[in-house]
Amino acid sequence: MFDIQRFNGVIYGADYNPEQWPREIWAEDARLMQEAGVNLVSLGIFSWALLERTEGNFDFGWLDEIMDLLHAHGVDVNLATATASPPPWFSLQYPDSRPVTADGVRLEVGGRQLYCPSHPALRDGAARLTRALATRYAQHPALKLWHINNEYGCHIDQCYCEHCARRFRAWLERRYGSIDALNGAWGTAFWSQHYITWAEIQPPRRAPTYANPTQQLDWRRFSSDNILELHTMERAILAEITPDVPATTNFLGFLPGLDYFRWAQEEDVVSLDAYPDPGSDLAHLDAGMAFDLTRSLGGGARWILMEQATSAVNWRLRNAPKPPGQMRLLNHLALARGASGIMFFQWRASRAGAEKFHSGLVQHVGQQRSRVWREVTAFGAELRRLTPLLAAGVPARVALMFDWHSWWALNIDSKPAALPLLPLVARWYAALKALGQNVDFVPPHGDLGGYDVVVLPNLYLMADETASALRAFVERGGHLVSGYFTGIVDAQEHIHLGGYGAPISDVLGLWVEEWDVLLPGQTNTVAWAGRDPVTVTDWCDVIHLQGAQAQATFTDRFYAGQPAMTRHTFGQGQAWYVGTELPPSALQGLLGEVLQGAGVPLTVLPAHVDLTVSALPEGAQVLHLLNAHATDPVSLRIPDGGVLFPGGEAAGTTLTLPPYGVTLVQYPQAVTVADVQVL
Ligand code: GLA
Ligand code: ZN
Repeated sequence: MFDIQRFNGVIYGADYNPEQWPREIWAEDARLMQEAGVNLVSLGIFSWALLERTEGNFDFGWLDEIMDLLHAHGVDVNLATATASPPPWFSLQYPDSRPVTADGVRLEVGGRQLYCPSHPALRDGAARLTRALATRYAQHPALKLWHINNEYGCHIDQCYCEHCARRFRAWLERRYGSIDALNGAWGTAFWSQHYITWAEIQPPRRAPTYANPTQQLDWRRFSSDNILELHTMERAILAEITPDVPATTNFLGFLPGLDYFRWAQEEDVVSLDAYPDPGSDLAHLDAGMAFDLTRSLGGGARWILMEQATSAVNWRLRNAPKPPGQMRLLNHLALARGASGIMFFQWRASRAGAEKFHSGLVQHVGQQRSRVWREVTAFGAELRRLTPLLAAGVPARVALMFDWHSWWALNIDSKPAALPLLPLVARWYAALKALGQNVDFVPPHGDLGGYDVVVLPNLYLMADETASALRAFVERGGHLVSGYFTGIVDAQEHIHLGGYGAPISDVLGLWVEEWDVLLPGQTNTVAWAGRDPVTVTDWCDVIHLQGAQAQATFTDRFYAGQPAMTRHTFGQGQAWYVGTELPPSALQGLLGEVLQGAGVPLTVLPAHVDLTVSALPEGAQVLHLLNAHATDPVSLRIPDGGVLFPGGEAAGTTLTLPPYGVTLVQYPQAVTVADVQVL
């Protein structure tokens, strides 16, 4: 279990890589950490090569020294198991531990994360190092948290080598039991793919044309599970030696390779690395969506922002800095959405290596000359006053359903159209945020009971159990909104026959006969009673009603006059269907109607205003009001009776947020977002 009381208030800190710096700097670092209000650092993430210089020979001298120094300065340690990157000697001693791409290329020494997750020596080596570190530092007073590995799957989420092929076969045998069952699931009657023995089965390596889709999907599932085994192996060693020290590994939000809803079950606390593009007007929406996902992965529990940049990163083609104020704004966004800790990569910007142009708390110019330093120390001081937020929850009445398996299946080639899922989800998310909603993400197997509205931006793969859960949700009075190309295949990636959307056809009150994929530049028009006609793009379903009512109809092309959007009363609830790609304003309009129908209060906010409502114990609530605009202020009307948080002065009923401005207002009771208005 994770108890935030282990830490000294809200966690504030960074990855700390003292091994990149001479010893003279270390004492200065510890002193500057105190000055900045840093209370936790992640140590040793890329230290394997310095900790184990030949197999089994450890040198912990420097780490002992730095652990003691940090402790003496009141800085706690989030100690890495240091397994993120094996040393060159390891990769050369075990050449087949280097991962292999789908094209059969074995990768070379010189970058990082150079390992095959299946290789026995890698597994042994990671276990050996984890055990040695846990044993050495079990009693060290600075040790407060374990940081297992680092960003699993960030570079290598699939390895196509023979070790992995063997484990893939074993995984498939466990899943299917017999080769006949596998042949059935993979549909191998197609293209002469029938397998006689398990030994014939390969990873979906580069093939002459499309690899078998179910093979590709199972490969994704296997790869996520296989890397997770590495993680739980280290986790078990730590739990054995230091049962009282919580453990985490840093997630990457919407990372394609790992099913984080499954992974999160193995974490004591979920943590996130978030690098929205500071140059984008949507940085706060990108970040906010990842923050909401992260809280949802932990079932609503508070979480740790483990890494972010103080200013620019170095890995985009153009790396915009965070202008003054933006870092603070994004940190407040994380706190509003449930973070218990605000950390950065990295403490001191590197002098050498591939990340030397990545910002740090201590920049190349030195702290005295740096506006970034002024901002991080000011924020460190501000954080000390925000401790009561550690007890806040983020109650949501609306959930977006998200599923890694469906995402994997949708991403497989040979579809009616390539549909990138994240931009699609982001459009629904942005529309809900613009209506002032707190939003959770929920997996298909998640509990829908607490929500009034569940949105399926796209759930291409829908298992029968998911359809049953959605049916029960609507029957009991829930409001469901489904986007197009949903409920198309089952868990084996076989089409649900009898009309697309078949598994929830009764709930939606319709069936889809076919779709019209629009080419770039092509549009259709939707006539929507009481509103202006809407121009739509990308995709139009040919819908047949079976109980639902058309809310809007297409006006062009061969299905002119047929429904584009529908609504169906089912049991005590309502099911809406959107059979096309709506522009943002229309999507927002539609969701507004859905929320109203569901009795969920809403307001209308411009995209640069971010609103979260958090709930303190004993019924108090806090409005977190953020202006993400870089140059323009925004004025708001807020409910009466609030006090500024922290501070306690009366908040009045209007306030102006400067560019990148943040205001928190606390109320003794629940507030309704309908009472927040932009002036
Ligand atoms: C990731 C890694 C860090 C660093 C940063 C750079 O988050 O975990 O080691 O490479 O990216 O943005
Ligand atoms: Zn491998």
